Amino acid sequence: MSNRNEGNIFEYILEHVNIIDVISDYITVERSGKNAKALCPFHNEKTPSFIVSEEKQLFHCFGCGAAGNAISFITQYENLDSIDAVEFLADKYRIDISQFAKGAHQKNTSHYARYYDILRDAAIFYYKNLRLYPDALAYFEKRDIHIDVIKQFGLGFASDAWSDLLKAMANKYSKSDLEKVGLIIENKDKTNHYDRFRNRIMFPIINPKGKVIGFGGRVMDDALPKYLNSPETEVFNKSQTLYGLNLAKNHLQDKRQLIIAEGYMDVIALHTHGFTNAVATLGTALTTDHGRLMRRYADEIILCYDSDFAGQKATLRSLDVLQGIIEKIRIIVLGENMDPDDYLKKYGADKFKEKIDQAITATEYRLNHLMQAYNLNDDQEKIDFLSKAVVIIADLSNAFEKNLYIEKLSGLLDVSRELIAKEVFKENYNANTQYGFHAKSKKVESIPKITSDKKRYLEKQLVMYYIHKHDALTEDQKTLIQNFSYSDELQSIIDYVVSYYESHTEFSMQHIIENADLSISTRLIDIVQSHLSVLDEIDIELVMNNLQSISLDENIEYLMQQLQTSDQKQAIQQEIQKKRMEKQALQLQMRRNKFKN
Ligand code: UTP
Ligand code: MN
Repeated sequence: MSNRNEGNIFEYILEHVNIIDVISDYITVERSGKNAKALCPFHNEKTPSFIVSEEKQLFHCFGCGAAGNAISFITQYENLDSIDAVEFLADKYRIDISQFAKGAHQKNTSHYARYYDILRDAAIFYYKNLRLYPDALAYFEKRDIHIDVIKQFGLGFASDAWSDLLKAMANKYSKSDLEKVGLIIENKDKTNHYDRFRNRIMFPIINPKGKVIGFGGRVMDDALPKYLNSPETEVFNKSQTLYGLNLAKNHLQDKRQLIIAEGYMDVIALHTHGFTNAVATLGTALTTDHGRLMRRYADEIILCYDSDFAGQKATLRSLDVLQGIIEKIRIIVLGENMDPDDYLKKYGADKFKEKIDQAITATEYRLNHLMQAYNLNDDQEKIDFLSKAVVIIADLSNAFEKNLYIEKLSGLLDVSRELIAKEVFKENYNANTQYGFHAKSKKVESIPKITSDKKRYLEKQLVMYYIHKHDALTEDQKTLIQNFSYSDELQSIIDYVVSYYESHTEFSMQHIIENADLSISTRLIDIVQSHLSVLDEIDIELVMNNLQSISLDENIEYLMQQLQTSDQKQAIQQEIQKKRMEKQALQLQMRRNKFKN
């Protein structure tokens, strides 16, 4: 979809969908005053703070801050990027976006829709086959895969014949297309075609947009190869695909964590046991593309490869690949040469959950792996091990982490931490360095230095003061605050607050969320939240004087600019003079006030 005029297509989609329809397809939305409200789908809550404005075509959650339009709702809910979300909405609401396709020099993807149709039809064909081949069903049964799971993953069976699929699809699709998506193969003398997948249990591979893009097929006995996969095609790229991501992506709202396994069967077993955040690579090594794909969906990756030698090698290689792409990686070590499927069968979900909790960091894994090769009771081997271990630790970017592992190794090997630290930090070693964190001071909004920010800050402070001290303010003070001349942004907010207090005695966030215009409530709550600390008495007059002074500065600056181009220079000069005098008078008054107090 890179061949589209994105700016326009976004607007076009937003003009053709109604955000209320889009959102109510996922959650129950209830009309409430001016807006519609719902329980936020992006965080757990009991009272609705998720507001949808039909008028503005925007949503906003006052609980977690999620906000945006119909497209961004889909990007967040379906975990798609915005271009995919546009296509998704166009697809769903049958909006024709073909006019946005660009010139012929770019890749033509119009035939992809046909490929997706073919692959989906093939998946349905394999699935329906299960009714005809009890052996296949028996195989699933043997592996504890029941009908609901078969349906969930769309599993199927390719019969032991040369052209069952070809025959079934030939009246609808061309051989050339069937070949291009990898379902049939041309024989050597180019006289005939035959099915690629024969006598195999079939696993459709489905992308996050819900399109079937390829298949994996497993034999039901010990024949080789055990698995056969679709070849790379225009719509199937193994190094950019994760099996199970179409399902896992919908379970990451609470915890952006993905479990990465090696096999189809592992993903299915993990999902069946409640680990719905599991995905797998497709028999190929993990790539940086996989890493970036994962990062779109998750903040933490748990690697759970087979614990055999090949699995360990794959783990180490994957750690190298993911370094710099994914920050939080942990590794589950299952032991006994088991894969996740075996482990779950033998020990169950609770034990696996414990394994997740005990998953170790990349550095621990690397150190443990290295350690296996040495007998640490032998002094020479201990030294050899240490000299390699310090390289792993020195490679860490974070000094705190370095120190953590220095401590660990020191404890484990009974070697002084200073000695190890010297090796790790080399010329940067400093015996006086104090290790550990400084407690960060809590973030309090400080008075900004830039004038326009300072102005906004002071205005917000007035509004906040008005809300919090409403009972305590004198009528004079109220009048002062109400009649002050604010910048446009704050004026609409103070107007709202003033009219709110005409019919209410207490400030209710919930009432405002439900009734105020979305743009007002968003900003108002932002003010209330960011100025919670400003509850002390403030000198209203001083704040106002400050604001007036800033306004005068702005006025003067504006007039100076006008002066450059205007042909009424004299009038402007006079105006500037006037403002300067106002400012002087104001400063004088501020100084007097200061001495008065
Ligand atoms: P495994 O051999 O570990 O298989 O291969 P598995 O997933 O545990 O399956 P079961 O439990 O024996 O049925 C792991 C993954 O490597 C790829 C497949 O993606 C498989 O799921 N693979 C394996 C192939 O592509 N071809 C093969 O011949 C074998
Ligand atoms: Mn297995």
